[in-house]
Amino acid sequence: MSKNYYITTPIYYPSAKPHMGHAYSSIIADFFSRFKKIDGYNVYFLTGTDEHGLKIQRAAEKKGVDTLKFCDEISQTFRDLSKTLNLTNTDFIRTTEERHKLSVKNLWKELKKNDEIYLSKYSGWYSVSDEAFYSEDEIEDIDGKKRAVSSKSSVEWLDEESYFFRLSKWEKPLLKYYKDNPNFISPASRKNEVISFVKNGLKDLSISRKSFSWGIQVPDDKDHVIYVWLDALTNYISALNYPNTDDQLFKQFWPATTHLIGKDILRFHAVYWPAFLLAANISLPKAVYGHGWILSGEEKMSKSKGNILDPIEIIDQYGLDPLRYYLIKEVSFGNDGNISQDRLEDCINSDLANNYGNLCQRVITFAIKNCDSKIPDKIEFKKDDLKILDNFESNLDLIRGKIDEHDLNFYINFIVNSLFEANKYFNDQEPWKKKDDLLRLNTIVYTTLEIVRKISFLLYPIIPSSSLKALKIFDILEKDIVLDSITNNEFLAKNKKINSIDILFKKIEKKDD
Ligand code: ME8
Ligand code: MG
Repeated sequence: MSKNYYITTPIYYPSAKPHMGHAYSSIIADFFSRFKKIDGYNVYFLTGTDEHGLKIQRAAEKKGVDTLKFCDEISQTFRDLSKTLNLTNTDFIRTTEERHKLSVKNLWKELKKNDEIYLSKYSGWYSVSDEAFYSEDEIEDIDGKKRAVSSKSSVEWLDEESYFFRLSKWEKPLLKYYKDNPNFISPASRKNEVISFVKNGLKDLSISRKSFSWGIQVPDDKDHVIYVWLDALTNYISALNYPNTDDQLFKQFWPATTHLIGKDILRFHAVYWPAFLLAANISLPKAVYGHGWILSGEEKMSKSKGNILDPIEIIDQYGLDPLRYYLIKEVSFGNDGNISQDRLEDCINSDLANNYGNLCQRVITFAIKNCDSKIPDKIEFKKDDLKILDNFESNLDLIRGKIDEHDLNFYINFIVNSLFEANKYFNDQEPWKKKDDLLRLNTIVYTTLEIVRKISFLLYPIIPSSSLKALKIFDILEKDIVLDSITNNEFLAKNKKINSIDILFKKIEKKDD
């Protein structure tokens, strides 16, 4: 089994500064990256910005600045956000970089060589906001304006010479690929949408534009620029140095394990992208996961609705880890989820401060007082201790399997239950009543410390800084976090000094409490 793992986020449009939706995709991708790292995988984690096309050109024109300068500035805010979110991304790609342009031109030439491209004329609808072509039956009239049914963004009529990709030819091979690889598209509901879209018949796809210039030039035809989605999707291989398929990075990490995206761009990733790859004889990614939307006041965030949530504001107010925890726990992964400050505060108070933070503080305080500030050395596990300790070992393979199915909800529920059980164990065992049975007292303390250690390992992909703060109790560092060791009930070095730590999470005083 290969221990290589390649996860990507969408490359975001630098048309405006990042919002909570972008932060969400990036945080989820980071969760997977960190989980796989502690499970011994070589991880490649890619994010970046998608900078060509009419959408960006117009946004820059509106500000009256040079397009590349405009991109430089906003792309930097996305790069900064990846630091603020504590992402473990390996690379940050910009489609305006030479390495990327070279890669896209090569893919074009390959498609041309394989007779997958021909010159014709496009007459139809186009949404600049989505950078997408729509057929007549995907358009509706809202307030006298033509809009795309799916995204509600306005469309304009195009009539221009264009190169086409022979997408229609890939209808059957795509359907076969979906059938042979049932985990290629998830969640399942989204998969069905894609399959019925393809079954309805694919038309050849316009892949160049003539009426503006902000893009990568079509090789041998300077009148055309390459369609921004063909350009953008190629980022996933240009970052691995395609077309140099002998390159170490490409050999090690392609095909990608998971393209994590929002459901808005599923068609591009689950239909167009695999068709381009098939046509160029490049192997296909293993999975595309289309997550739901972060809603703000029951609606998808959008500039025009003025309901954009700024992740920086939330982080400034509550801290990063609470936001990461909240997004992973409270947005049921795969579905849309509403963001509410009230729920976020509840999460901080009950899950983070009470269940996790308190457990850590209680057991350290007790051990400092009653175990000479050391990890107990003479211990003898009994049934109650082993029951709670072994629960990690008996679920580890299940956890791994669920992560491969992108079942984040299972993962977080396992942690929440474990925290509940741990607190209950410490209460039920009443170590403070065992002062005349030191063997028992020490065993309870050791067991609880081990549980804190195991849960902190599992929490590391979700709340990395807080988990590392808790692990300072044992002087455990980031490099020491190995998932496999949650099967070990005596990982903690006996007789070693334990450190007290600062409060992990401050409780929020709620007005209506
Ligand atoms: O589509 N809730 O870029 P984009 C959850 N450049 N996720 C959201 C979200 C929301 N309200 N809003 C955005 C593009 N996202 C293209 C992608 S990839 C080769 C090119 C996240 O800036 C989600 O991942 O519009 C969504 O798919 C992505 O941002 C769209 O970002
Ligand atoms: Mg978008």
